[in-house]
Amino acid sequence: MNPVQDLIKSLAETHGRKRENLLPILQGVVEKEKYLSEYAMIEIARELELPSAEVYGTATFYSFLEHRKMGVYTIRVCKTITCSMKGKNQILEAIEEMLKISLGESTPDGKFSLLQTNCLGWCHKAPAMLINNDVYTELTPEKVREILKQYIQPTQN
Ligand code: FES
Repeated sequence: MNPVQDLIKSLAETHGRKRENLLPILQGVVEKEKYLSEYAMIEIARELELPSAEVYGTATFYSFLEHRKMGVYTIRVCKTITCSMKGKNQILEAIEEMLKISLGESTPDGKFSLLQTNCLGWCHKAPAMLINNDVYTELTPEKVREILKQYIQPTQN
């Protein structure tokens, strides 16, 4: 068995092999692999005895389940109305300029990917973004540059 098959089998053992266990299994694969390959979706369908079209349909429905290989850190800037009105474009520009990538791209070293996302539920502290599972709010271009510096050069313990 290869590592992806091993991972899917262990996730299926943890969560169960019913249709309602599909989402946590998809999330588990994205967490470990950073994206859902076509191969992984086929293997999940096989493991859960579901049609691959159903796995693919579920995976493509959720914007958090990436189908392309993502960087070590996936940055998701909220694009919904409050964040848009509070300057998310300037936030995106600051990130693009600092990482030298455009929206939807990853840095050549595979460290960062930049995406937009729907409302993160932090509208009262807009604009907001996520870096992997960490939320950052009340962003300004200066603040975002400081945050990214910490990811570019992690502090030594
Ligand atoms: S609109 Fe951006 S967090 Fe809600």
